Amino acid sequence: MDFKNKVVLITGASSGIGRETAIEFAKLGANIILVARRKDKLELVANELKQFDISTLVCQCDVSKKDQVKEMSKTVLEKFDSVDILVNNAGFAIYGSVSDLSIDEIESQMETNYFGMIYCIKNFLPSMLEKKSGHIVNVASVAASFGLPGIASYCASKFAMLGFSEGLKHELKNTGVGITVVSPIMVRTDFFDHHSFEKMPKYSPTSLSSKTVAKAILKAANSPRLEIIVPSIVRVAVWMKNTFPYFINPILGKSFKKQLDSTKD
Ligand SMILES: NC(=O)c1ccc[n+]([C@@H]2O[C@H](COP(=O)([O-])OP(=O)(O)OC[C@H]3O[C@@H](n4cnc5c(N)ncnc54)[C@H](OP(=O)(O)O)[C@@H]3O)[C@@H](O)[C@H]2O)c1
Repeated sequence: MDFKNKVVLITGASSGIGRETAIEFAKLGANIILVARRKDKLELVANELKQFDISTLVCQCDVSKKDQVKEMSKTVLEKFDSVDILVNNAGFAIYGSVSDLSIDEIESQMETNYFGMIYCIKNFLPSMLEKKSGHIVNVASVAASFGLPGIASYCASKFAMLGFSEGLKHELKNTGVGITVVSPIMVRTDFFDHHSFEKMPKYSPTSLSSKTVAKAILKAANSPRLEIIVPSIVRVAVWMKNTFPYFINPILGKSFKKQLDSTKD
């Protein structure tokens, strides 16, 4: 797909995967709307994008607050008539067992990761449908396919994202608007800076760069597929889990539970 002059909105653009995705789209001449809560970080990304001949708009917005998303979408749609590609990437996790996490901590992950995506889709989908074109890319995780100890509520938010996207994909058939979920394994970003991950090993040797995931997001923006798992070999593990749940689930569960127990020592 030719992304030149397309309008791309990225939530969670102030760091990690979102920032890298903004750079990759900008390289191809797309106009970029950067959305996140930390305005200073967004301004830094906008400065980096100045080297490309594109328009950039910085929008400070907490996607978990539906009034803020509505206000942000008004600003965006006043400047650009519609958004061609909506990347719902804002998200975070709080590590800990369900017994140790508070209800507020569990809710907050759902509010940003799941409802934040819903609020953005509800505000930008109408103009996409009117134009009969556009693509939504939802950044989930392999945690959308595996319920894991220590991140149960994060997994739930990503399962929800995948289920919602699958349902919406059927509804969007023949409308000209597409939707694809990108599900990476561990990525080297600030994601693990949350204090709850303090006692965890920082990254596994197989963890990805945010550039690898950004490239998958660009591919997803023009894909007829429901889900792109990064790296694609992990599809085998998802297939194994769905086909032989009694085999793969205990292995994964045991290893993640061991890690969870070790952080309590
Ligand atoms: N890193 C991984 O291993 C990994 C693996 C699979 C999937 N993912 C997913 O990838 C996405 C991006 O994460 P990342 O790895 O790039 O982590 P990151 O570097 O921590 O980036 C997270 C981004 O989300 C934004 N954000 C968080 N809460 C927000 C809110 N309420 N409203 C608006 N923006 C919000 C943050 O910006 P502000 O703080 O400025 O708001 C930041 O820009 C997440 O959805 C995550 O679940 C990550």
